[in-house]
Amino acid sequence: MIQTHRKETADTAPAGRWEPQIIAFCCNYCAYAAADLAGSKRMQYPVNVRIIHTPCTGKIEMEHILDAFEKGIDGILVAGCLEGGCHFLEGNLRARKRTGRIRDILDEIGVGAERLKMVNFSAAMAPTFVERVQEIVETVRALGPSPLRPSAKKESAGEP
Ligand code: FES
Repeated sequence: MIQTHRKETADTAPAGRWEPQIIAFCCNYCAYAAADLAGSKRMQYPVNVRIIHTPCTGKIEMEHILDAFEKGIDGILVAGCLEGGCHFLEGNLRARKRTGRIRDILDEIGVGAERLKMVNFSAAMAPTFVERVQEIVETVRALGPSPLRPSAKKESAGEP
């Protein structure tokens, strides 16, 4: 089961100003623990990121990621344990391969591979978690809104 935490999103940005909406799929054992540690240490990171708690990155299917993009998410982090440290042995290795395939698809359809990134943490790597979150927010901010956003699709179809 995948659970969503943290309600603050880019929807809270001042009216009229676009802010990237980012999802971080965090595995339970390391990435989520690193995010939790960052929170409990009161480390600041952008509110643009919605964390989705997942048992292991190996459980994240292509459709979860592609659905999120289709619903208007601008960027996604897949965050798992360090290589060799997955609690389901090879879940993070499968996730890395899957992420690579999806990045290729995103490039082919003109969305851009840079909007999806796989990262690995130990439970103690709260500062690295914060850095990676800041990096993807900045990367996506530079790219602009996803062309798959419903509003972008309407504009390209000539709808008001
Ligand atoms: Fe963390 Fe598998 S349990 S990536």
